[in-house]
Amino acid sequence: MIFINEGHYPSFHLTNGKLSYIFHVLESTQTLEQLYYGAAIKPRDNYDYLIEREVRPSNNLYQDTHTTSFEHIKQEFPVYGTTDFRYPAIEIAYPDGDHISHLSYVGYTQLSGKHASNLQPMLRAGEEDAATLIIHLKDNYSQAAIDLHYTIYREQAVIVRRVVVHNHGEESLRLKRLLSMSIDFPHDDFELLHLYGAWARETHLERKPLIKGVQNFSSTRGASSHAHNPFLALVAPNTSEHQGEAFGFSLVYSGNFLSQIEVDTYHVTRVSMGINPFQFDWHLDTGESFESPEVVMAYSSKGLNGMSQQFHDIYRQQLLHNETPFEKAPVLLNSWEANYFDFDEEKLLEQAQLAKDLGFDLFVLDDGWFGKRDSDNGSLGNWTTDLDKIPQGIRSLASNIQAMGIHFGLWFEPEMLSVDTPVYQAHPEWIIGHPNKNISHGRNQFVLDFSNPDVVANIFEQMSQILGSAEIDYIKWDMNRYISEPFSNFLKKHQQGELFHRYILGVYDLLDSIRKAFPAVFIETCAGGGGRYDPAMLFYANQNWISDDTDAIERLKIQYGASMVYPISTMGSHVSEIPNHQVGRITSLKMRKDVALFGTFGYELDIMKLSDADREEVRQQINQFNQYQSLLHHGDFYRLNSPFEAGLTAWMVVSKDQSEAIVGVYQSQASANPAYERIQLAGLASDQAYELLELDHESKDIPVRYGDDLMAIGLILNENFTGRADEYWGREKAGEYHSRVFYLKTKKG
Ligand code: GLA
Repeated sequence: MIFINEGHYPSFHLTNGKLSYIFHVLESTQTLEQLYYGAAIKPRDNYDYLIEREVRPSNNLYQDTHTTSFEHIKQEFPVYGTTDFRYPAIEIAYPDGDHISHLSYVGYTQLSGKHASNLQPMLRAGEEDAATLIIHLKDNYSQAAIDLHYTIYREQAVIVRRVVVHNHGEESLRLKRLLSMSIDFPHDDFELLHLYGAWARETHLERKPLIKGVQNFSSTRGASSHAHNPFLALVAPNTSEHQGEAFGFSLVYSGNFLSQIEVDTYHVTRVSMGINPFQFDWHLDTGESFESPEVVMAYSSKGLNGMSQQFHDIYRQQLLHNETPFEKAPVLLNSWEANYFDFDEEKLLEQAQLAKDLGFDLFVLDDGWFGKRDSDNGSLGNWTTDLDKIPQGIRSLASNIQAMGIHFGLWFEPEMLSVDTPVYQAHPEWIIGHPNKNISHGRNQFVLDFSNPDVVANIFEQMSQILGSAEIDYIKWDMNRYISEPFSNFLKKHQQGELFHRYILGVYDLLDSIRKAFPAVFIETCAGGGGRYDPAMLFYANQNWISDDTDAIERLKIQYGASMVYPISTMGSHVSEIPNHQVGRITSLKMRKDVALFGTFGYELDIMKLSDADREEVRQQINQFNQYQSLLHHGDFYRLNSPFEAGLTAWMVVSKDQSEAIVGVYQSQASANPAYERIQLAGLASDQAYELLELDHESKDIPVRYGDDLMAIGLILNENFTGRADEYWGREKAGEYHSRVFYLKTKKG
C-alpha cells in the first residue's frame, strides 16, 4: 500500500486501489511537495510529470534562483516565515522571538498497523488492516523533530494523518499552531460542504461554492460544539449523493478545532484541519513531545454517499467501543422528558416494570438522582444518591430493576461543578475562571478544571463509588455548558495557552479510566444534545445523544446532516411525547418511530400515560426495531431525498450482501393536488428480484421488483402496490407528517 521510489529525494505513493496520495522530497529545498490526492492511479517510477509550477513574481528562497518560492510549490506541511504567504500548518515561536521555520526531510519509517497514542483517541489499525508511513523532518533552526504520520487502510478509501513534534534541543520552544494535516489541491473547482447548528438544531447541512481567500469554521468554546462539527468536505460542483468526487475530512478531537480552506490567487486550494490555534500556546520543553489529534480523510468517486459510507465503515470497525453488556443494540427508555426532576423510587420502579413488559432492554435514570437536585440549580459534582427521592439508594434501585430482567443506566455530568457542593466548598479554585475577574455561569454551573489531575482523580473516585456499588450497565455522559473565561488556577502563568487542550486531555483521561475500570459499561455521550458529537468522544462511547430536539420532523434534518460522517448506529434517537417538548408539534406514534428507527432507537416519554392501544403499538415497534436492527446498524446507508431541499425526505440502508434493504420516506409538508412522487433507490443488486413489503401494513400481494428497476424507476409513491394508495398522501388525504417504511428482500428461487 505504500510505494516508495528510493533515492536522496524519494517519492511516496499511498494507494489501496481506491485512492492515491502522492508527495515527494524536493531537491532544491529538501522539503515535501504535495503532488496528488484523488482516485487511485498506478504506481510509477517517477512523478515529476505531476509537478505544476511556473516562474512568477515572488520572493525566492535562494540568491541564485528565481524558481524556488514556497508560494508556488504545493506544500505537504507548510511552515511560516519562508516565502509562503498562506496560513501554515505549523508555527513555532523561537527563543529569539521570531517565528521563522524551515522543515527539511530526514528520512522515513514504515510499519504495519500503526503506533497507538496513550494520550488521546485515534482509530485502531491491526497489522493486516493498515500500513503506516512516518516521514521524519527536522527544523533547520532548532533541535525540533517533526514526524508526519500517514496510515492507509486496506479496505476503505481512507487515510488518517497526524503529527508529532519532539523538542530535542536545550531550549524550550513554543508551538503557536500545530494542525494535523494540510493539502494543497491544484485547483479550486470545488464546493464546500459542512455541518453547522445550535443547541437543538445541530448538524444542519450547508453547501456553497468556494470563494478566493480564507474561509473557515472552528470552535473556541472548549468543546467541538453545536455550532460547527469538526468535519468538512470538498466536492466537485457536479457531485451529487450518488456520483462525482468528494473529499471528506473529519477530525478526531473534542476541543477547540479549526477547519480552514484557503484559495490563493492562483486558484490553489489549501485545506487544513487541527487544534484551533486561537488561544493555543504550547510550551515544549527539552525532551518533550506534542501529538496532534488525527484527521480522517475519506475519498469517494461515487458521490457523497460513497464518502459517508467510508466514514461509517471505518468508524464502526476501527473507532467505536464495541464491548457492551447487551447482545444487540439496546432499546432504552430514558426518564428525562417523562420525569425531568420530579420522581421518586416508586415512580421509577413502575416505569421500569412497564418498560420491561413492553420489551425494552434498558431503563435510564437521567438527571436529578444525586445531591439535592430538584432543578438545574445545583448539586453537580456531588455524585451521591438523593435519599429523599431514592431512599434505598442506587444500589437497591439498580438491583430491583435488574431483577425485573431489564438493564439499568445512569446520567452523569462529570465535568461540571455547582457551588452548593462539598467539592466547591473545599476547592473553589477547581473551577475554570480567574479569581479576580467575573466568571460566567452556564445553566447555573461552572466547569471543573480538568487540566488539573487532582480534579480528574476526585471525579473518577466519586463515579467509581457509584458504578462499583451497583449493577449499572450504561452511563449517559453529559456536558451542558461551554468554557467562556479560560483561566486555570492550577496551570502556571506561561501555560494558560495550554488550558483548552489540557482540559480535553483530562476529559479523555477520565473516560479512559472509566473504560479501564468498567470495560463493558455502555456509554452514550452527550453535550446538551450534539455539542460534542465528534469521533474522539465516540472512541470511548457506543453512541451519542445527538440532539435535545426530539421532534420527528426536525430530526429528519439533524439525522440527515449527521449521516454525512457519523454512522446511524451512533445517533441517539428517541420516540418522545406529543405535543413535542421542543417545538409543540404533533406527529403520529408511527411517524416518530419511523424516524427514530434510523438511529439507535429508544423512547423518552411517560409510558405510564400511554393508552393500552399505544402501549401495544410501542411493543410492536420495539419488536420491529429488533427485527431490522442488524440491517439498520451494519448495512450501507444511502441518503436519497434531502429534507433541506424538499418536503419529502428519503433514506435507506442496504445490507452488505445486497440481499435486503430498508427504506424510510417522510413527508413533512403537504400540498394540495400534489405532483407525482417517486424515489429512486440505490445500492441494490441490479439483477436481483426483491420482494417489497411495507411495514405496518397488511398486504395481500407482495409485489416483486428488480434492483435495476427500483434504482432506475424507483418506488412510485402514488402507485397502488399495497392496495392502499388513497389513504396516504395520494390525492384524497394529503396531510402533513406522514411516513412509510419499506422492506426489500431478495426473492428466493
Ligand atoms: C441535557 C441533555 C438532556 C438531559 C438534560 C438533563 O440537556 O442533553 O438529554 O439529559 O441535560 O439535565
